[in-house]
Amino acid sequence: MDAASRIESSLADAVLYAEAAGAPPRLAAALRHAVFPKGGRIRPRLALAVAAACGDDRPGLSSAAAAAIELLHCASLVHDDLPCFDDAATRRGKPSVHRAFGEPLAVLAGDALIVLAFQTLARAAPAAPERLGPLLLVVGDGVGVPFGIVAGQAWECEPRADLSEYQRQKTGSLFAAATVAGATAAGHAEPELWRLLGDRLGEAYQVADDLRDAVEDEATLGKPVGVDKALGRPSAVAEFGLEGAVARLRALSEQAVAAIPACHGQALLRGLILAEAKRLVPAKLSAQAA
Ligand code: IPE
Ligand code: IPE
Ligand code: MG
Repeated sequence: MDAASRIESSLADAVLYAEAAGAPPRLAAALRHAVFPKGGRIRPRLALAVAAACGDDRPGLSSAAAAAIELLHCASLVHDDLPCFDDAATRRGKPSVHRAFGEPLAVLAGDALIVLAFQTLARAAPAAPERLGPLLLVVGDGVGVPFGIVAGQAWECEPRADLSEYQRQKTGSLFAAATVAGATAAGHAEPELWRLLGDRLGEAYQVADDLRDAVEDEATLGKPVGVDKALGRPSAVAEFGLEGAVARLRALSEQAVAAIPACHGQALLRGLILAEAKRLVPAKLSAQAA
């Protein structure tokens, strides 16, 4: 099975688990709405690419790790769209979860997705039980405190935030969890060697998201635009301007490529990351980034 099919099949399996007979039907439907249809699935693809580069000797476990990372990402989007955060009406080209199901179910669906990520890891653990503890910690660190997504978004409630710290925690942390979890699931002896790649790529990804928020339209992105400016969020565009943000994106992408550890799949991974870095620059600005 190719990587994309492995990701969709693991996610389908996780969501089915949540939809067992007797589960509250509207909560189950809200979960499904949050996970399908897919977005870019960049984080699970990254996790599986790293697992492949590390030999991927337990594909059931690496698929579960990739699915767990994506479930956590989907949860973060459900909560990020709530009225108390970005108050976004659309996501992935359809109504956000709270618009479709109401706020209480959106809060609960986000909570349930976070827990489902860890249930998914635990269900796959018999393939290599000794890898479960490290995987739980890596994935938990990517979303919780002190430096995961939750910490990152909490900077929005502080009077001042350092842009790079904010973006590394809000977005880089889950990318870093994706690379380190991919290596951990594949039994790499030193999975932390993969952290810098995820960290740099994640920060690049958030800079690209800031650029898209500033120059794209809602029909193209499938989510509201101009949010950072309207809500006064720290953003690469506000801090560096459009040109400066494109330059920062390029520098971070180069740092990501340079951070790929030596491995037998290095060339393949390099190609994947370069292609992704190119895709990240909004078409309107790509001439500047060339
Ligand atoms: C959006 O992430 C939120 C950010 C952290 C920038 P994605 O752009 O990966 O969203 P989907 O999964 O493709 O919808
Ligand atoms: C979302 O950041 C990051 C999360 C960790 C949820 P943004 O608010 O910048 O992302 P979008 O534009 O809503 O996807
Ligand atoms: Mg948002």
